[in-house]
Amino acid sequence: MSRIINISFSYKEYERAEELSAEDQELILAAREAAKLAYAPYSRFMVGAAIRLESGRIVHGSNVENAAFPSGICAERTAIAGAVSNYPDDKPVALAIAAITDGGLPAESVSPCGNCRQVIAEEEGRTGRQIRIILSGKNKIQVIDGVGPLLPLQFSRDSLSVYRS
Ligand code: THU
Repeated sequence: MSRIINISFSYKEYERAEELSAEDQELILAAREAAKLAYAPYSRFMVGAAIRLESGRIVHGSNVENAAFPSGICAERTAIAGAVSNYPDDKPVALAIAAITDGGLPAESVSPCGNCRQVIAEEEGRTGRQIRIILSGKNKIQVIDGVGPLLPLQFSRDSLSVYRS
């Protein structure tokens, strides 16, 4: 007999960054600044990501494109790689994402691609800590408590042993 499984989730939405805590505002600003450093000559879509670590330190990254398009990397993964390789014991607690286009800050927030969601999930698994994800646009800020809802039915390190046995 089949069953319908329904998955739903809630997140917080704000109209203005000023409604968030000073720490989160600082992280959003860091993501916006990082977006200015993107190397995106092909898409002209510049994305920045800023990660707050447990210590309070902020690590940022931006998208780095390549003439061989699939060799390019998103801002979120650049930032996570920087955090993990430089501060492996300092766990990420929050990740802000922002973009700038030719027209400035997009009105809508930017959401991480599937590849980045998978990498955020791996980082949560590695550290055992949820990462608050802060998606920021000019007119909309969305805060999601952990990547879980953005990536239901995850393939994770646990899956490896499940499928092996
Ligand atoms: N991109 C990111 O860096 N992060 C996202 O969340 C969405 C997309 C980049 C990849 C590519 O360099 C450009 O934006 C256009 O897709």
